[in-house]
Amino acid sequence: MPSEQKALFLESKQGRFVVSSTPKPTSPPAGELIVKIQATALNPADWKIQAFGVIYEKYPVILGYDIAGDVEEVGEGVVGFQKGDRVFFQADFLNEYAGFQQYARVRADFVAHIPKQLSYSQAASIPLGMATAALGLYVNQPSGIGLNPLFESSKDYSGQAALVIGGSTSVGQYVIQLLRYIKFGHIITYASGHHSEYLKSLGATHCIDRKQVPLTQLPEVVKKLTAKPVKVVYDVTSEDIESQSVGYGILTDDDGRMVLAAESKLQDGDGNGNSKKTVVRVFGFILLPVNDEFGKIMYKKLNKLIEDGHLVPNRVEDLPNGLGGIVDGLERSKKDQVSGVKLIAHPQDTS
Ligand SMILES: NC(=O)c1ccc[n+]([C@@H]2O[C@H](COP(=O)([O-])OP(=O)(O)OC[C@H]3O[C@@H](n4cnc5c(N)ncnc54)[C@H](OP(=O)(O)O)[C@@H]3O)[C@@H](O)[C@H]2O)c1
Repeated sequence: MPSEQKALFLESKQGRFVVSSTPKPTSPPAGELIVKIQATALNPADWKIQAFGVIYEKYPVILGYDIAGDVEEVGEGVVGFQKGDRVFFQADFLNEYAGFQQYARVRADFVAHIPKQLSYSQAASIPLGMATAALGLYVNQPSGIGLNPLFESSKDYSGQAALVIGGSTSVGQYVIQLLRYIKFGHIITYASGHHSEYLKSLGATHCIDRKQVPLTQLPEVVKKLTAKPVKVVYDVTSEDIESQSVGYGILTDDDGRMVLAAESKLQDGDGNGNSKKTVVRVFGFILLPVNDEFGKIMYKKLNKLIEDGHLVPNRVEDLPNGLGGIVDGLERSKKDQVSGVKLIAHPQDTS
């Protein structure tokens, strides 16, 4: 009889979330780890899957895509990890690999050690947001716009400007930092004004207050801030046709590249198929075969990039009540009541 653990199940398509017992994963196959989950982050994807019935066909499912915890068991052939190591990683879509439970399986190639200065909560704020930012900006098409496919430190885009629409989102904060890492000359972000100082600490050179400046005025405000060509626009807001088309208009005609975190609502380029601009809809899932090579490079580098101060995690808010606290947290995210922080649950605190 395998030992039990607690997990938060989405019972059925668009159904209820329920905490219940389920077998604890044990005896990892070759190349995998079992991790005791100390912190797991909430993402808008979690409530969207529940509300819209997307992605999964077989239920019940366990959601949750960001995990930080302790290595519990090590599979054959795994090098570099041992029982007790503090680790973080992006979770997979299969129940045994998911975040909203007390133990999970993971492929060791896509795991990083938690840097000394980070808590479990801070580490759990990184995987999905960072992957969405890095894949969109750095890898070649179809996943991204190809600015730094090998995640090198030598890239230099100082002659160019970038605009991040939704810079205070979890993803947006990583986008800003990854633009700074490749030395964009101007990094302009559109977000609520009270986040300006924080976003500047992450690398934004200019912040435009979205509560003061309507989207329609964004092009002229950006033009006043920079004479550099706007090479990159990363739109992290949801399915907002207005922000997508305003962002597209701001992009330079000379090889401008746009990343969308949501489905594109744009007509094909300039409307007649002649555009020299590139638009990519990112899917921030590092475990897709097409992202395999980049994912392994990124996970090898993450620990040092953070230890050296190139990247910092999101600010975090710890939720009470273990896995049970996730349901209220997702309601807040759905109601747009989460601003500039990542909500974190602690599965071991589940009663
Ligand atoms: N394609 C993918 O693979 C992928 C992966 C991850 C996330 N996403 C999507 O990307 C979006 C952001 O995700 P997240 O986890 O980063 O979100 P999040 O941190 O939970 O987003 C909260 C933030 O959204 C900002 N916001 C809300 N409406 C906005 C608007 N109209 N314009 C600008 N900012 C706005 C708020 O900004 P203020 O505080 O400044 O008001 C708030 O700080 C979600 O729609 C999510 O589903 C997609």
